[in-house]
Amino acid sequence: MRFIYALVFWMIVAIIAYFVVAFTGTYQVGADVPHWGITRHAIDFLRDHTTERRAAEIKPPPLDDPALVKLGAEHYAEMCTGCHLAPGMGHSELRDGLYPQPPDLTRFAPDPAEAFWIIKHGLKMTAMPAWGATHDDHTIWAMVAYLQKQPRMSAAEYQSLTANASGMEGHEAVPAPAASVPMPAPVATAAAPVSASSAH
Ligand code: HEC
Repeated sequence: MRFIYALVFWMIVAIIAYFVVAFTGTYQVGADVPHWGITRHAIDFLRDHTTERRAAEIKPPPLDDPALVKLGAEHYAEMCTGCHLAPGMGHSELRDGLYPQPPDLTRFAPDPAEAFWIIKHGLKMTAMPAWGATHDDHTIWAMVAYLQKQPRMSAAEYQSLTANASGMEGHEAVPAPAASVPMPAPVATAAAPVSASSAH
């Protein structure tokens, strides 16, 4: 019985402490103040073990097909470089301000099954979106296939692989103009996401 009283007492103390911290603004919610080391370790541990467990049942298809890699590169160029960089891209202003900072995926090839799960479902309380909401499994595997090659890719190879990427189907910000309106000439810089996003 005493144990129950003690438990209830400490739960009430914890709830009061929570509201005191919230109302006094003591907790640092700003993304420019890092977590305590122990909080960071707890989050990383939970993420690593959960994704490992979830990915265990996923069997990657063959990922070497050059057409699949190219499709993945084009999607990657359109949606991912601002956070995960690309060959030849030094940094991005978006990535510099994010916490947790997205990993630089030009430096290592993530495990295929885990990458598939993370790309499809995203990661809560990080900036990583769930791309499964808008992309089928084939397109997600294409991005995984590209990520396996990216760490060994030169900036020139990346540029030629993604030359047609901008304005891909489904990625236009603006709907296609009506037939009577002349199509604008393609913008030269749109095909060069690397120089465009790292320019300043
Ligand atoms: C707005 C930023 C943002 C965008 C855009 C984004 N990601 Fe992420 N992504 C993150 C963050 C942040 C993490 C790491 C979260 C963490 O630390 O737990 C992450 C993690 C990942 C990981 C896990 C890497 C590892 O350590 O194993 C993969 C793979 C990944 N993202 C792929 C992609 C792909 C592919 C795209 C584009 C379709 C994409 N991401 C777009 C922010 C982003």
